[in-house]
Amino acid sequence: MFGARCLLRALRSCSSAPCPRHRPAARVSVRGALGVQSANGERVKVQGWIRSIRSQKEVLFLHVNDGSSLESLQVVADSSFDSRELAFGSSVEVQGQLVKSPSKKQNVELKAEKIEVVGNCDAKAFPVKYKERHPLEYLRQYPHLRCRTNVLGSVLRVRSEATAAIHSFFKPSSKIKVPEENFFNIPVFLTVSGQLHLEVMSGAFTQVFTFGPTFRAENSQSRRHLAEFYMVEAEISFLESLQDLMQVMESLFKTTAMTVLSNCPKDVELCHKFIAPGQKDRLEHMLKNNFLVISYTEAVEILKQASQNFTFTPEWGADLHTEHEKYLVKHCGDIPVFVINYPLALKPFYMRDNEDGPQHTVAAVDLLVPGVGELFGGSLREERYHFLEQRLARYLDLRRFGSVPHGGFGMGFERYLQCILGIDNIKDVIPFPRFTHSCLL
Ligand code: 4AD
Ligand code: MG
Repeated sequence: MFGARCLLRALRSCSSAPCPRHRPAARVSVRGALGVQSANGERVKVQGWIRSIRSQKEVLFLHVNDGSSLESLQVVADSSFDSRELAFGSSVEVQGQLVKSPSKKQNVELKAEKIEVVGNCDAKAFPVKYKERHPLEYLRQYPHLRCRTNVLGSVLRVRSEATAAIHSFFKPSSKIKVPEENFFNIPVFLTVSGQLHLEVMSGAFTQVFTFGPTFRAENSQSRRHLAEFYMVEAEISFLESLQDLMQVMESLFKTTAMTVLSNCPKDVELCHKFIAPGQKDRLEHMLKNNFLVISYTEAVEILKQASQNFTFTPEWGADLHTEHEKYLVKHCGDIPVFVINYPLALKPFYMRDNEDGPQHTVAAVDLLVPGVGELFGGSLREERYHFLEQRLARYLDLRRFGSVPHGGFGMGFERYLQCILGIDNIKDVIPFPRFTHSCLL
C-alpha cells in the first residue's frame, strides 16, 4: 500500500487552476478525497468498490471504498443514475465534484457527474454480505475476498503501517538492511532464520537488520504458528550485555506501536472495539510500563509455586510451554516480561555461555507478551573461538578474523500484530496464511 500524498498533490494543483470545469478530473484515492479540508467543487475521479447503496426518491447515495482507508467516500448522485448494476461489491469509477457535505458524518462528498460500473458483482453469490459482521473463522475460507471487508482491511493497513514503522525504526541509526537471498544453482533450503547471514553482515556493517518471510516445518495447528511467517531480525556488533539488547527490543515494540496508533487510529480502533474489547487499555498498559526482566530460574520458581495445575510440570531444565508463558505474563501484571539466561542444554550452539554453575546457562532472552506468549527470541552470541571449536567452520572463521562481542534477536511479525491488535488467531493478521495441511492460496 502506498500513500495518498502524491494524489493529494495532484488534487491541490487541480483545485488551484482557474477553470476547473474544463480540466480532466484528477484521480484521487478515497483517503485523499476525505482528507480535503475545504472542498470547493474540484473535479475528481474515484475508483473503488461499492460498500453500500441507498436509493431515495430523487437521490442515490453510494459509499465507495478503495482500501486506502476504513471510511468510504459518500457519492451523491441523481436517481437517474440508479441501475441494477450498481450493487454491493461492484467496482465503479465515479467522476464528479468534491463538495462540502451538509451532513455531520463526513467533511466532503462526491457529487457524481458520471458513474461507470467497471465490474459487476452478484451480491447473492458474493460470500461477503452487505451489512453483516462475519466471524473471522468464516472469512478465513475466502483468503481471496476477505481483504474487502472492514476488519481485514483494517488489519492489513495496520500491517502495512507497522512494516513501514519497523523499517524507519532501524533506518535512522544507519542499520543496513540485508536482502534475502534469491537464485541458486544448488539444492537449498528455505530459511528458518536470517540470523547466520546477519552475523556475517554485522561483521562488516556493525548494525544490521532483515525483515522477510521465514519458513518452519512445525507440525502445529495452533493459533500462533504458521509455516510461513515474517520475522524482523537484528544483529548488533560490539554489544556486550543482554540489557542493551533488551533495550532495543523494547524500543522496537513501543516505537512501532506508537507509530501505528498515530498513523492509523481508526483501523486500530475498529479492531480494539469489535474484535478485542479491552485491548485498548491492555495495549496502553504495555506501552506505559517498563517491561520486566526475570531469569529462567526465577520463572521456574514462580511456576512451581503457582496454585494452578499445569499439564507440563515445571522443572529446571525443561522448556517453557504456552501454559507457563501465559501464567508468567499474568503473574507479572500483564506487562511484557523478558525471561533471560536459559539452560545451556535447551538452546542452540551459538548462544553465549554464561560460564555459571552448577546450573549451566546461556545469555538467551525471550520476550513473553500478553495474549501471545513468546514474541521475541534472541541472545548474546558466542564470540569466543575455543567455545565453538567443534562446530561450524564458517561460523568459526567469523571468530578467527576480527571477532567482536555481539547479539541479536528475532521478532515474529504476525505475533506482534496479534499482540497490539488483540487478534486471537495468527491466521487473521497475514494476507495468505499457510500452515500444516493448508495452503489455500
Ligand atoms: O525464537 P526464534 O526461533 O528465534 C530465531 O529464529 C533466532 N534465530 C532469531 C534471531 O536471534 N535472529 O523465532 C523468533 C520469533 C519467535 O519469538 C516468534 O515470535 C516467531 O519468531 N516465530 C513464529 N511465528 C509464527 N509462526 C511460527 N511457526 C514461528 N516460529 C517462531
Ligand atoms: Mg524461540
